[in-house]
Amino acid sequence: MSRVAYVNGQYVPHGQATVHIEDRGFQFSDGVYEVWSVFDGRMADFDGHMTRLHRSMDELRIPAPMSRESLTRVLHETVRRNRVNEGLVYIQVTRGAARRDHPFPPEGTPPTLVITARSLPLSKGNASAAKGVAIVTHPDIRWGRCDIKTVGLLPNVLAKQAAKEKGAAEAWMVDDMGLVTEGSSTNAWIVDKDGKLRTRDAQSNILRGITRAAVIKLVEAEGLELEERAFTVDEVKTAREAFYTSASGYVMPAVSIDGVVIGDGKPGPIATKLRSKYLDQARRDAI
Ligand code: PDD
Repeated sequence: MSRVAYVNGQYVPHGQATVHIEDRGFQFSDGVYEVWSVFDGRMADFDGHMTRLHRSMDELRIPAPMSRESLTRVLHETVRRNRVNEGLVYIQVTRGAARRDHPFPPEGTPPTLVITARSLPLSKGNASAAKGVAIVTHPDIRWGRCDIKTVGLLPNVLAKQAAKEKGAAEAWMVDDMGLVTEGSSTNAWIVDKDGKLRTRDAQSNILRGITRAAVIKLVEAEGLELEERAFTVDEVKTAREAFYTSASGYVMPAVSIDGVVIGDGKPGPIATKLRSKYLDQARRDAI
């Protein structure tokens, strides 16, 4: 099946989809992005991701490429044209193409808009979740505005590659104080040794995950105790459970960190339950 990408007003064959060499996303990482998961051809947590996309653009003063309504139509159409049933939709908006110069380009420079969609069968993630994944730690060397979802992801790429080279699925980044910030592309959670759920409070040093927010609501509905407070790597090692959340991994149980087994080395009951509840809800509410 041939894939199709949306690029600046046109649906084009994926292999021929291009942007200009002087695009500011390419030259300066001057752009933002979002990722939605797709269930039954519909997007999960739609409003949350759309609102965060607009917040990211506003924070960087990148003009919106079109109205929310039009953008929603194009997102749906991209999913439809790619016949994605279970998978992901990716959107990127950059400050456009202009002669290379650090300050913003002249007013009226149109932003670049790219949308792609691809299939990713849920069965693959379910197989990893059933066994639980390994994580490693990595220094957090990112800038101070990790709450903005920019395409400037080099530190995240280096962290994820380090994880891959050590046979792990994810890297949890650690700040100068020895506290876990978040994963390279996920938010980090533990069930601590006292049985309390913990995830770092969402300041500018982590991304306010949309899946994280949805899981917080589920945790509250389940009557579980949650503290939005940072934790150390040692606390992960002595935790009962660990897991991470994201639009592409949903809720993913982790069973070791830097080779040290977490809990009994199996996906924990709370993580497993939250994954199942999240998937049910995401599928039900997808639009
Ligand atoms: N990553 N933290 C970081 C650094 C992320 O890049 C992501 C998302 C998350 C989880 O956010 P959400 O629940 O809204 O997906 C946390 C996406 C999936 C990616 O880069 O592919």
